Amino acid sequence: MKPGDNLLIAGDNLTAAPLLLSSFAGQVDLIYLDPPFATGRAFPLRPPPGGGDSVFPRELAYEDRWQGDPERFLNFLEPRLILCRDLLSSRGTLYLHLDFRRVHHARLLLDRVFGERCFRNEIIWHYRSGGRPQGAFAFKHDTILVYGKNPEGYFDGDAVAIPRVTARSNKMKRAVDEHGRTYRSIRSAGKEYRYYDDERVIPDDVWSDIGHLHQRDPERTGYPTQKPEKLLERILLASSPPGGRVADLFCGSGTTLAVAQRLGRCWIGCDESPAAIQITCRRLAKAPFVLHRKLPSATSLATEEPATGPAQENTLETKQVAPDPNLRGHRASARCAGVDLEGHRDGNLAPHRCASHRAGQVPQRTSDSCGHRLA
Ligand SMILES: C[S@@+](CC[C@H](N)C(=O)[O-])C[C@H]1O[C@@H](n2cnc3c(N)ncnc32)[C@H](O)[C@@H]1O
Repeated sequence: MKPGDNLLIAGDNLTAAPLLLSSFAGQVDLIYLDPPFATGRAFPLRPPPGGGDSVFPRELAYEDRWQGDPERFLNFLEPRLILCRDLLSSRGTLYLHLDFRRVHHARLLLDRVFGERCFRNEIIWHYRSGGRPQGAFAFKHDTILVYGKNPEGYFDGDAVAIPRVTARSNKMKRAVDEHGRTYRSIRSAGKEYRYYDDERVIPDDVWSDIGHLHQRDPERTGYPTQKPEKLLERILLASSPPGGRVADLFCGSGTTLAVAQRLGRCWIGCDESPAAIQITCRRLAKAPFVLHRKLPSATSLATEEPATGPAQENTLETKQVAPDPNLRGHRASARCAGVDLEGHRDGNLAPHRCASHRAGQVPQRTSDSCGHRLA
């Protein structure tokens, strides 16, 4: 890998650890993790809005199998957090996105892995979508825990500043000054403090100004639990420098990677769901990146050449897919593009070819149809 290259890894993120550490230890500016929340649910794919084409219609995107004993979830999370800590640069930051189910356990775990001194923030992402139960206060927020590799780290508040008027207002007196600017003021110890509405401020730790994606949102890819780009935009702008390196090891539909690409950061993504990889490939079809499928591997990426070039079509074609026992039970079948992933049904990811591939009518390729080299 060369500096500035982007990498997408298909497979379990812990299995990818040797590969990642051999090339990126201490070099990642920002890691965002949005793992399964321990819901115990299976998440099917949905057709994207506008009747677009789902990559695996009516099939599962992924199964969240971490409900029940919190220890199981923490045992899953801990080595992955250690991996993240080792990937982060000395000024790097981790954002871990969870909800009420496991956030309290995860915070203690993060204190252990990163050290309490490296705690930076507990962000409440408050949204209004979904129904409201009658017998309880509705669950309407997720929690994003923020830890630094070290107590001091990169943070660009100016890059995420918002007009004060959209930040929370309080009951301060409102007035207009001699130049027509509105402000709120407060008197303390004989002095007047003015807060102008048009001044920009760093958002506080409760984010209510970013909504969930609604059902028909054009951003939707059909991948369940997809997060809004606006959320990732704020995180990336605040905690990664322009040209820096961003990683998302549970990348799902590739939201973090798409935002990183747009904002001029280079990126590393990983997901074990074939649907996630396929949707991410579509979403980033115009970006140059290396698609890595051979896991496990301790091979350094140092000698690998990235593929470049724009996408021509949005199908994923692979030459070699390693068996991944972590995917046992996934049901996923792709429209054939050189390979289908029927093997996920029984945990065997060896390529199953469609009739024309079996008949040798379609040549084997070492890059996908977007021109991304298949490692
Ligand atoms: C909540 S979703 C991420 C959604 C993503 N943030 C987005 O905007 O689309 C969690 C993802 O973690 C993936 N995942 C779960 N366990 C994994 C593992 N061990 N290695 C890699 N990916 C995993 C699932 O396949 C799923 O895509």
